[in-house]
Amino acid sequence: MEKRERLSSRIGFILMSVGCAVGLGNVWRFPYITGKYGGAAFVLIYLAFLVILGLPIMVMEFSVGRASQRSAAKSFHVLEPKGSKWHIASWLIMAGNYILMMFYTTVGGWMLIYVKKMLAGEFSDSAVNTGEVFNATLASPSAMVIGMLLVVILGTLVCSIGLQKGVERITKWMMALLFVILLVLCVRSVTLKGAGEGLSFYLVPDFSRIKEYGIGEVLYAAMGQAFFTLSLGIGAMAIFGSYVNKDRSLTGEALNICVLDTVVAFLAGLIIFPACFAFDVNPGEGPGLVFVTLPNIFQQMAGGRIWGTLFFVFMSFAALSTIIAVFQNIISFYEDLWGFGKKKAALVNGIVIAVLSIPCALGFNVWSEIRPLGIFDIQGFEDFIISNNILPIGSLIYLVFCTWKFGWGWKNFTEEADTGKGLKFPKWSRIYVSFLLPVIVLVIFVMGYIQTFGK
Ligand code: TRP
Repeated sequence: MEKRERLSSRIGFILMSVGCAVGLGNVWRFPYITGKYGGAAFVLIYLAFLVILGLPIMVMEFSVGRASQRSAAKSFHVLEPKGSKWHIASWLIMAGNYILMMFYTTVGGWMLIYVKKMLAGEFSDSAVNTGEVFNATLASPSAMVIGMLLVVILGTLVCSIGLQKGVERITKWMMALLFVILLVLCVRSVTLKGAGEGLSFYLVPDFSRIKEYGIGEVLYAAMGQAFFTLSLGIGAMAIFGSYVNKDRSLTGEALNICVLDTVVAFLAGLIIFPACFAFDVNPGEGPGLVFVTLPNIFQQMAGGRIWGTLFFVFMSFAALSTIIAVFQNIISFYEDLWGFGKKKAALVNGIVIAVLSIPCALGFNVWSEIRPLGIFDIQGFEDFIISNNILPIGSLIYLVFCTWKFGWGWKNFTEEADTGKGLKFPKWSRIYVSFLLPVIVLVIFVMGYIQTFGK
């Protein structure tokens, strides 16, 4: 077997995984879903899900990747018991990567567009209504398509240069900058006049708000967000497992990654909610939340144009490092399945993803009349398919595969996870992860459907 490409170091592995996990899910999706579902009580449920659902499943993905030394396109073939059909899951997983990209590229494009807007000083005049600017941006098919295309081209370029040199080096710098900028903005936001109300919305649970939506729908949303933010269910984390060596046990690594990802999402909330209340923006605003709230602060703060530019640069970085990681994963499918070279796989998929992303980019303007299932716009629908369907189902597959005898099995899984120095996967959790966890995911999934569509 050809020797697999390796990341240059443990820190490289962690940075890559964090680069994939930290993205629009933390800074765009987390605040808007939290705002929609009423704040702190939702945050609590979400945090609980990260620990009880996200963490074990991340360890499982890493283990499957490291043991099989393959991407998700082939990992099940390698590990499944002879004659079983687990490998069929790889099609769902591969499709999931594309569906994720179908809207992620467009939202990534919004970030680039906002970098330009901030730089150009479009929000400098305090008479500018940030909500109107956002709507006008969405209404422009050319802006939407160009933003999306830029993102796709950048991703394709980085990936065709190669894993070691391209992705790893860039991701390191992205991550470092991102953190600093977040901290600075956080201090600014919590010291705004009127920030207190936002802090209590975000941090003081009020469970009566959950009743408004129904507990089933809230749990469903929190589960989807937990999987989304940690990049679980479609082999995104598994691929990093296949690149890392056996020096370290995988539970410890997964814990590090979950903590870092959560810190970033938490900080994003600390920036956005105080600002929402200080400037009277509805936290339930929806996908436009960050784009409407933040320019408002920048508009009324000293040096706001610079802060704003930096913030959207940071957002773009976070989105790009994620897109690069997903691209990388898709490319590895082509390498594993059909022996494509990196350059060819990157180019082919750059084109495929650009085309697939068009419905979302046009869904806010030319095709805004299209309402899938009557309750979604195109972007919302694509997000629903991935976050609320493919990610839970994919996670469930990893879960059962790693714990049940007719899959890869508990023994193989824990042996792989525990190889190397560091935290071991807790043995006492066997009954919990094998039986209770699959039931939890299934029940939330079914309840979520009933409440979401039963209204
Ligand atoms: N976790 C990323 C974010 O928060 C998005 C992402 C990347 C993802 N790869 C994934 C989500 C795989 C689900 C599955 O922005």
